[in-house]
Amino acid sequence: MNLELHPLTDRWLDAAVELDRLALGGMWTRSGYQREIDSPNSELLILTSDSVNLPIALGCMWAILDEAHITLLAVHPDYQRQGLGQAMLLALLMAARRRNLSWATLEVRASNQVAIALYAKFGFTEVGKRPKYYPDNGEDALILWRRGLQSDEFAQELAVWKQQISDRLARSNWSQTVFS
Ligand SMILES: CC(C)(COP(=O)(O)OP(=O)(O)OC[C@H]1O[C@@H](n2cnc3c(N)ncnc32)[C@H](O)[C@@H]1OP(=O)(O)O)[C@@H](O)C(=O)NCCC(=O)NCCS
Repeated sequence: MNLELHPLTDRWLDAAVELDRLALGGMWTRSGYQREIDSPNSELLILTSDSVNLPIALGCMWAILDEAHITLLAVHPDYQRQGLGQAMLLALLMAARRRNLSWATLEVRASNQVAIALYAKFGFTEVGKRPKYYPDNGEDALILWRRGLQSDEFAQELAVWKQQISDRLARSNWSQTVFS
């Protein structure tokens, strides 16, 4: 199965809203996605495949001063645990580095152990908490932070992750040119 990484465009807008509903329970509306497409400070990426009619993964990052705010990360429920979440996170971090941003930050539900484990693999650490941040159930948000995006060490880490993730995707039968 082939895999392509590209910015979200109008062509995929309705499909992105559907994936958001499936994977995130409807976090952003159609007009929310449209705003992101139109914003020069937003990097909204999707992974698609010829063989799947919805995007397989979505990721979004806002460039604010020298920070990358990761605002969205989701993989289609039928395609989780194949390395695609890592691939999208890596793509966002690479985009942040290209934009000369120095830090990456995000909020995650305190109960979302899967996402927390994923972010930890990429060097995110907890720096604080927003108590009762999520209105649906009053859950706390953890604030995660990743420094050093412009360092030589980070460039080396990116190269290692690219190789590891490419191998992981290949094991799940994704033929991809995303990171080549
Ligand atoms: C979080 C999410 C994006 C991960 O995507 P994924 O494609 O399944 O993740 P990957 O296959 O790339 O796995 C990456 C790492 O995440 C962690 N992970 C993923 N699924 C896991 C699970 N079921 N249990 C424990 N850890 C898990 C592991 O550390 C894994 O690395 P490993 O495979 O080397 O063990 C996906 O589960 C998702 O879309 N969840 C719903 C939306 C969401 O919670 N988004 C994050 C909001 S902050």
